[in-house]
Amino acid sequence: MPTSAELPPAEVEHRTMRLRAMTPQDVAALHLLAKAEQWPHRAEDLADMLAVGSGTVAELNGEIIGTTMWWRAGPATATLGMVIVSRRHRGAGLGRIVMDAVLDQIAAALGPDAAIMLNATEDGLPLYRKLGFRGVGEILQHQGAAFQAPLVPLEPGERIRPMGERDGAVVDSLVHAATGLDRPSVMTLLREKAHGVVLTHGDTVTGAALFRRFGRGYVVGPVIAPDATRAKALIAQWIGSRSGEFIRLDIPGDSGLGAWLEELGLVRVGRVVTMVRGGEPRGTAPGTAFAIVSQALC
Ligand SMILES: CC(C)(COP(=O)(O)OP(=O)(O)OC[C@H]1O[C@@H](n2cnc3c(N)ncnc32)[C@H](O)[C@@H]1OP(=O)(O)O)[C@@H](O)C(=O)NCCC(=O)NCCS
Repeated sequence: MPTSAELPPAEVEHRTMRLRAMTPQDVAALHLLAKAEQWPHRAEDLADMLAVGSGTVAELNGEIIGTTMWWRAGPATATLGMVIVSRRHRGAGLGRIVMDAVLDQIAAALGPDAAIMLNATEDGLPLYRKLGFRGVGEILQHQGAAFQAPLVPLEPGERIRPMGERDGAVVDSLVHAATGLDRPSVMTLLREKAHGVVLTHGDTVTGAALFRRFGRGYVVGPVIAPDATRAKALIAQWIGSRSGEFIRLDIPGDSGLGAWLEELGLVRVGRVVTMVRGGEPRGTAPGTAFAIVSQALC
C-alpha cells in the first residue's frame, strides 16, 4: 500500500476529503465560493436557504471545496441548487461526488422515484445531463433600476392591495397550484422576510407578488397571476414604489414579460436551463407563475 507521500496529488485529495452535512457555520465558506462565481447572494440569503433546506459540503483538510443544497417541495418532490466546486478542484470528479451524495439523500428521504428540479448554469449542464436530468424550460434573469412606474389597467372589480397575514394560506396555495411545488417552510420564511401585494377580484385573491431584499438589491418573486397583463400590474406596484432601486426578477422564458421588463430598464443578464429528473412537477394552474423565488430554490 503506498503512503500518502507516494500517491499522485489527486488520489491524496480523495483520500482525505470528506462529505458532511452543511451547518450554519459553513455559510461564510459557501458565501466565498458563491462570490467567486459572481453570484450575488448575501451571507444572510444563504443562511435563510439553509434554514429551510439541507446542505452537504465536501471538506478537504478543513477547507470547504464543494457544496450542494436541496429543499423538500412535496411528498416526492425536491428542488436542488448551490452546486459549487472550488475553481482549483474542478474537472476531477468532485461535482459528480457531491451530486451523487445529494441524490442519495433525496432518494432516502423521498423515495427513489422523487421528482427533482433544478436550474442549471452552462457549467452545470454536462454534469446534470450525465446524471439523468433533462431540460424542460428556461429561466431568464432580468435586473436593473427602473425609474418610471408603468400604468397597467385592471378590469372592473379587480384591485391590488397589500398582502395581509390572513392572505398567507391563499397565496401558498396559488404558488403550489402554479408550480406544483409545495413548500410550507419556504413560504413561511418568505412571508417573514418579504412584503407582498395581492390581486383581488371581488373577495377572491387571484394573484400575488412578493418583494424582498436579496443580493445587490431586491427581488420580485414569486409572482403568480392569471395572465401576463395582471402579472405586469403586480410587478408594476413594486417598480413604482421603489423607483431607482436595483431590482431583479427571474422569469420563465415563456412568460411573455421579457420585452416589457427591458423597456423598463430591467435588462436580461443571464439564462439558466430548468432541468428535471423523474416526473416534472406540475401544478393545477400551469402558466400562472411569472417569476420564481430564486434560481437555486426554483
Ligand atoms: C458545475 C460544477 C459543480 C462541476 O464540478 P466538477 O467537479 O468540475 O465536475 P466533475 O469533474 O465531477 O464533472 C462532472 C461530469 O461532467 C463532465 N463534464 C464537466 N464539464 C464538462 C464539459 N464542459 N463538457 C462535457 N462534459 C463535462 C465530466 O466529464 C464529468 O463526467 P464523468 O463523471 O462521467 O467523468 C463546477 O463546474 C462549478 O462549480 N461551476 C460553477 C458553479 C456552477 O455553475 N454550478 C452549477 C450550478 S447549477
